Amino acid sequence: MATIAVIGTGYVGLTTGACFAHLGHDVICADIDEEKIARLKEGQIPIVEDGLDRVVAEALSAGKIRFVVGATNASEHAEFHYLCVPTPQGSDGRADLRFLEAAAAEIGPSLPANSVVVNKSTVPVGSTEVVAKHLDRPDVRVVSNPEFLREGTAVQDFLHPDRVVIGSSDQEAAIRVAALYSKVRAPIMVTDPVSAETIKYASNAFLATKLSFVNAIATLCEHVGADVNDVTLGMGYDTRIGKEFLKPGPGWGGSCFPKDVAALARIADDYDYDFALLREVLNVNEAQFQRTAQKVIDALGPDPSSKKVAAWGLTFKAGTDDLRESPAIEVLQRVSGSGAQVVAFDPAIPSEIPQLPLVTVESDPLVAAKNADVLVVLTEWPEFKFVDFDQLADQMRGRTVVDGRNLLDRSTLKRRNFEVIGIGR
Ligand code: UDX
Repeated sequence: MATIAVIGTGYVGLTTGACFAHLGHDVICADIDEEKIARLKEGQIPIVEDGLDRVVAEALSAGKIRFVVGATNASEHAEFHYLCVPTPQGSDGRADLRFLEAAAAEIGPSLPANSVVVNKSTVPVGSTEVVAKHLDRPDVRVVSNPEFLREGTAVQDFLHPDRVVIGSSDQEAAIRVAALYSKVRAPIMVTDPVSAETIKYASNAFLATKLSFVNAIATLCEHVGADVNDVTLGMGYDTRIGKEFLKPGPGWGGSCFPKDVAALARIADDYDYDFALLREVLNVNEAQFQRTAQKVIDALGPDPSSKKVAAWGLTFKAGTDDLRESPAIEVLQRVSGSGAQVVAFDPAIPSEIPQLPLVTVESDPLVAAKNADVLVVLTEWPEFKFVDFDQLADQMRGRTVVDGRNLLDRSTLKRRNFEVIGIGR
């Protein structure tokens, strides 16, 4: 078993550290945020992530994980160093490498001889070289090991991945990183660093393309009178297409897809390749936010400023409290821009959020729906399906539901005289 330093305790770092500890390694997680580290030492998890609290608690009581302030305090004791710092989108669409470069420069001088630094953050193609330069340690190898963790199922995804990708120009370093996953049953693919980095971007961009395609098909279904649920069911039986990532929605979002698609398009620009397909994938997504908002505004009828909208769901998808690049926020900004009053409910969001200054947040879906003219569903939280629809009908002033996730049972709603406007059906 190895000693692993994990630099950065966000979604990726905390999941990576906790799961490596679960696999039996000795893990030291570092962050610059002193308060966060103090809470993690007590087993308090700062994010909503299924199963993560249990894995951290087990690792803490087994003495397999430690939390420290400052990257050097972790790295000076470890053989492997996972860089899990944020790589936000810069103003020009490129990933901003400031945090990555700073972390590399900080740990470089204190790394034990012959240790391996691993890029887990999503980084532009060629970043292993950038990290190596900032480490300034010729004896230390830099390996790319991209993450494919979905929020909400990150622990499962780490322990039962579809594949592990390792990019290294040094065979021995690649084998040492592969050995960290010896208890994980998944194909381990070793390639060069640039290919590993491209695999990560290409995978996310492909999935985003699939979603924009499905959302465009949903629009077409509305025009021709087809039902997108049946269309995607029929498509998904084809194993070349697959059943996953075929659900239309109000647009896609989250901390990865929007930034990774934009970054890949910028990478192509840098090499004078116009990746027009990806730009269109982003355009279709913007149009989907607008189309969904317009459905709500149209349902309000004349004088939206005298009307009320109830919104169920604020997070970018169910199973997380993450609001980053949330399609729900995109849609609600447009709806409240029409002048309508908006009252929202989300099981993971207890109070008002700065991105939506005009939107009130309630702690109960039926309270949010009180006197609403239109209800819009924006996140696919399963609990929305089990709300008492008799009470919903009593609470609301109007009888229109814009179901942005095709989540609610139509016949249940129709029996209570609701008009249901879905996506692509
Ligand atoms: C994604 C990738 O899946 C993961 O591999 C990568 O490492 C990080 O980015 P995540 O951002 O957690 O994970 O969300 P994901 O489950 O992929 O969903 C992204 C967006 O697509 C969400 O807004 C979601 O609601 C939407 N989506 C997903 C759909 O609209 N329909 C679908 O069928 C699936």
